[in-house]
Amino acid sequence: MRAVDIIRKKRQGGELSREEMLFLIRGYCATTIPDYQMSAFLMAVTFRGMSQGEMASMTEEMMRSGEVLDLGFLAGVKVDKHSTGGVGDKTSLIVAPSVAAAGLIVPMIAGRGLAHTGGTLDKLESIPGFNVRLTSEKFKETLARANVALIGQTDRLAPADRKLYALRDVTGTVDCQPLIAASIMSKKLAEGIDALVLDVKTGSGAFMKGQQEAEELARAMVGIGQSCGKKLAALITDMNQPLGELVGNSLEVVECIEVLKGRGSRDVVALSEELSAHCFVLGGAVENLEQGRELFRKMIRSGQALAKFEQIVRLQDGNPAVIEDYSLLPRARHESPLLATETGYVQFMDTEKIGLAMSMLGAGRETVDSQIDHAVGMRVDKKIGDAVEDGEALCTVFYNDEARFQEALKRLRESYKLSPEPPQRPTLIKKVIG
Ligand code: URA
Repeated sequence: MRAVDIIRKKRQGGELSREEMLFLIRGYCATTIPDYQMSAFLMAVTFRGMSQGEMASMTEEMMRSGEVLDLGFLAGVKVDKHSTGGVGDKTSLIVAPSVAAAGLIVPMIAGRGLAHTGGTLDKLESIPGFNVRLTSEKFKETLARANVALIGQTDRLAPADRKLYALRDVTGTVDCQPLIAASIMSKKLAEGIDALVLDVKTGSGAFMKGQQEAEELARAMVGIGQSCGKKLAALITDMNQPLGELVGNSLEVVECIEVLKGRGSRDVVALSEELSAHCFVLGGAVENLEQGRELFRKMIRSGQALAKFEQIVRLQDGNPAVIEDYSLLPRARHESPLLATETGYVQFMDTEKIGLAMSMLGAGRETVDSQIDHAVGMRVDKKIGDAVEDGEALCTVFYNDEARFQEALKRLRESYKLSPEPPQRPTLIKKVIG
């Protein structure tokens, strides 16, 4: 077999066999296939797509490139939740403790901020001392004690994805639906889970801007998971505006703790409830979604979800006192509002631009080595459909660096569009697949 023949076959729209896929992925990991050939292959896939069978074999080979966790020693169903990424998208910090508090096991391997989107690991690391770099042994030990642990991808987990992702990042092949599906699913399947709930974002702040594209990605991932014998559900959810009220790492931790205390923004509560309900159904803890929603509410009302969050923070070396004293979290030195210059209704928010503005403030990375400023971010004072008076605050920016603030403010100003008539508010949960 030769890589060049496989590249040509894909370029002409052919369907690769399992053996050909295996040859490519193994060869790339073993460095017998160089970056330039793999880049050509990825670009061919970006133009030609992949069949469900090709995606399944690519995912499986990427998963097998490293360790596949065996969590069989833990009695109970293992469930995880994964989002394709958004702005203010913080539900993992609520869903993981709520689902674990009800008795399911949540081995969550989360990601860092990517492009304009935030990352669960960056949010957790704003809690002083919190350690997301557990070894596989410590990860298993924490799961055995608490039913839940939240960590980053280790070197041993799906290393083919790490290598391929870095290459995609510099060859313009990130926003390719089959490659995203294989990338996400290879990591999730290596976690040793029985069931997975996917939150597939669509809208101006999502990687998949159109709902149809998001649905195709959801179907592809559900198909891959099911072909590996796992239970899956994918929710197509709105990302035309930031989720909740706060954006930025420590700010989002505060918003999550508020939800766990039975308060918090309505949309964050609603989405966390729905995602948790699906985890409960797939994990066999309840018979239907309504019972799942009620179980989530019970975990919040009783304080069990908050207690589980506290246990996670403690077991992963974080300071649990932040739960009662938010001043222990990083705080920005300055705050300033973005004022409306006309009266009307918020019609559109360019959420990708908002995410980039936050990244520019320091909430995200410009390069892989950039240091994050966990304190900075924004409060979303007005959302789509809200009435705004001239001179009223659209949002409030929390910052530490004046020059970065000015740049971010300019982008934020460009992100808001007002109209004289009230527009329809976006529907939060658009569809469920699987
Ligand atoms: N998240 C991933 O893990 N992989 C992708 O390709 C895109 C988003």
